[in-house]
Amino acid sequence: MTFCEYRPGLEGIPVTQSSISFVDGQRGILEYRGYSIEELAQYSTFLETSYLLIWGSLPSKDELAEFEHEIRYHRRLKYRIRDMMKCFPESGHPMDALQACAAALGLFYSRRALDNPVYIRDAVVRLLAKIPTMVAAFQMMRKGNDPVQPRDDLNYAANFLYMLNEREPDPLAARIFDICLTLHAEHTINASTFSAMVTASTLTDPYGVVASAVGTLAGPLHGGANEEVILMLEEIGSIENVEAYLDDCIQKKSKIMGFGHRVYKVKDPRAIILQSLAEQLFEKFGKDEYYDIAVALEHAVEVRLGTKGIYPNVDFYSGLVYRKLGIPTDLFTPVFAIARTAGWLAHWKEQLNENRIFRPTQIYTGSRGTPYEPIEKRDSVEDQELMELVTG
Ligand code: SDX
Repeated sequence: MTFCEYRPGLEGIPVTQSSISFVDGQRGILEYRGYSIEELAQYSTFLETSYLLIWGSLPSKDELAEFEHEIRYHRRLKYRIRDMMKCFPESGHPMDALQACAAALGLFYSRRALDNPVYIRDAVVRLLAKIPTMVAAFQMMRKGNDPVQPRDDLNYAANFLYMLNEREPDPLAARIFDICLTLHAEHTINASTFSAMVTASTLTDPYGVVASAVGTLAGPLHGGANEEVILMLEEIGSIENVEAYLDDCIQKKSKIMGFGHRVYKVKDPRAIILQSLAEQLFEKFGKDEYYDIAVALEHAVEVRLGTKGIYPNVDFYSGLVYRKLGIPTDLFTPVFAIARTAGWLAHWKEQLNENRIFRPTQIYTGSRGTPYEPIEKRDSVEDQELMELVTG
């Protein structure tokens, strides 16, 4: 079977069959395993949702308790990983640190027992347990401090904020952070998940799968946009500058960060929830200085670009929530990665169930049958350009 039409970015091309999540981009619907994102945000927790995504159904009370217990047990990092992290430059981006650490886990655990459910479970638990510890440890180490050890009496979200800020978080802050993780946990075949699936399809180990997905998430067109949004709001600086900033972007055809989506042509349902979470935090802890600018920008973009289906995506309001939780701007994308690890692992597992290596094709546009020219007979590009100038 051959498809001859080339669709840049594989737009609209199905690359798998999946029962993990569903998006209706025209109506702004997102479901994980059939459950609406709104209900999961309201009633579930990140770990319960991760279980749902990875094992396909909501856990019983005992199953959830066991899963949470295993994750608590595996939160600590091996001292060799911590030693490796000490060698990282403090100025390096935390996403690069995380990618290196995720890949390094593969050094410690036996490889490729991919048909063994115990191996699968251990890998899921280790990655979900250790990735937040890695992110928090890098933050501590680059400030010259020792990493804060995880606390077994704190839940997943509260423990991460504790390791990051060295103090127990306010319960509302911890609950809101947990909801953020649920909102970011999965989103069909986005770029990083596709990257995870391609890597998984070679039957490599799950640490390599997650490391490749982390590298893909980092870019500003994908997960890295949450960091860029705050830099953009900083640059805009005041409500009065919003229109001029937007004019400039439209004129230069540059992208407004946190807006637009391949699938959503309305406001991303996660952005709606994140905006309301930001407002809940502002009510208790005071408003963020950039919030009014963000709302004004959303309004201005809707007026100017709404007809093109450009609305806030998940990355637009998440940073305003994270700032209130005391999370530094360059950790926003690593926080996205903590959450998305659940989705990547769900797709890894699904890929293994019916695996065939990804090997698409191309439409070749280069020359053919070119005779090899000895180096002494070749002109340099500069010589060729000079010749073109001389000969006109
Ligand atoms: C995530 O895929 C997922 O599910 C991802 C994600 C997940 O949970 O995994 O939802 C997370 O990655 C969110 C997206 C974060 N990225 C950004 O916020 C960066 C800014 N947004 C864009 O660059 C863009 O909208 C993308 C990358 C998100 C989508 O790119 P597409 O589908 O390839 O769209 P495109 O760039 O081809 O744009 C189509 C049109 C163009 O106009 P025309 O040339 O047709 O006239 O829409 C315009 C674009 O110029 N457009 C924008 C815009 N996004 C699209 N114009 C201004 N600002 C924008 N942000």
